[in-house]
Amino acid sequence: MHTPIITGSGVFTPENVITNDELVESFNAYVDRFNSAHEEEIVKGEIAAKTHSNADFIREASGIEQRYVIDKKGILDPTRMSPRFESRADDAPSLMAEMGVDAIHKALAQSGRAPTDIDLILCAASNHERAYPAIAVEIQQLLGASGFAYDMNVACSSATFGLQTAADMVRTGSVKCAVVVSPEVCSAHLEWRDRDCHFIFGDVATAIVIEREEDGMTGFRVVSTRCATKFSNNIRNNNGYLRRAHDQMEDRRDMQFMQEGRKVFKEVLPMVSRHIASHLEAESLGSDDLKRLWLHQANKTMNDYIGKKVLGRTPNPGEQPNILQDYANTSSAGSIIAFSKYSNDMAPGEVGLLCSFGAGYSVGSAVLQRV
Ligand code: COA
Repeated sequence: MHTPIITGSGVFTPENVITNDELVESFNAYVDRFNSAHEEEIVKGEIAAKTHSNADFIREASGIEQRYVIDKKGILDPTRMSPRFESRADDAPSLMAEMGVDAIHKALAQSGRAPTDIDLILCAASNHERAYPAIAVEIQQLLGASGFAYDMNVACSSATFGLQTAADMVRTGSVKCAVVVSPEVCSAHLEWRDRDCHFIFGDVATAIVIEREEDGMTGFRVVSTRCATKFSNNIRNNNGYLRRAHDQMEDRRDMQFMQEGRKVFKEVLPMVSRHIASHLEAESLGSDDLKRLWLHQANKTMNDYIGKKVLGRTPNPGEQPNILQDYANTSSAGSIIAFSKYSNDMAPGEVGLLCSFGAGYSVGSAVLQRV
């Protein structure tokens, strides 16, 4: 058996930013157009008038202040309200592969490895832009890596579940150098015309490199990982390959991200708190042993609650860093962005906990120790 260690992490951040004010301005312009185009039906009571969004609500309800996106113009165009991506030829790199490769190069630079050292790539993300061939295999080819690669999807927990899979393979010796890459084009699964959720997501890609500590590598030892799932429809997206076989294809709201936000709060918070508590107990770790919490980045109130529950007190500044104010919810990439940006200052021996949670429901956690 070997000891898996995270030797590098990297983040690809798109160039375009949408602030809450910009988002709300375009959303409200869309609402005004909609209401005026449907004035007669609204007056007759046949359809409901749409309501303006509000930047103060967004910040207070979620903690989000802005989001990075691949395409800003299409999202903010009140006549379109969705990103526009050029379709690419089959022999051109796909969008997710391109973003993933950028994040992997950054992670490899930190670990001091070359792409040819990699012998496993897991593309772990909540959406994949095609059914097959796997995005991971395309990434493998673009990098010139050897070994094998495949895609996996556990929604917001894809990266932590991918970490468990990769760490277990490194531990048992089936691979020496694994990469978990999470390109999340969340802007394409978000309904930007839905006031309840139009502010939630942003685009990003993250990558982590997992190797053997015995090979003289330093970084963050993967002390242990723990995954759990429990079926729920409260976060759901019905899009899939059966779509064309369904009768009513026009404008189906359920073909994008949908959630019962309040129910998610009520059900996921206790599940995550219990999950973390039992993982720490199994490792004989008390809250005082934890230097850092890198949590899933969906909602600030949610993270404040979990931080307090895990530590038994309000976390000190820096103990539970949030990045959602800048990136919004980036699905599986969120906790990895927090880890990537807020881990370099930790001293050898110090321990942190990485934890994601989301659709499924799913919860994935990893105890990491600086080496
Ligand atoms: N602008 C202004 N008001 C808005 C609004 C907007 N964009 N969206 C909703 N509101 C209103 C609602 O109409 C509601 O009004 P009412 O009280 O008069 O009915 C009120 O604000 C509260 O709405 P609600 O949806 O209950 O808000 P919330 O406090 O639950 O916050 C989320 C919404 C989405 C931020 C929150 O539910 C959340 O983050 N949930 C879990 C997220 C999560 O982890 N999801 C996993 C995804 S991977």
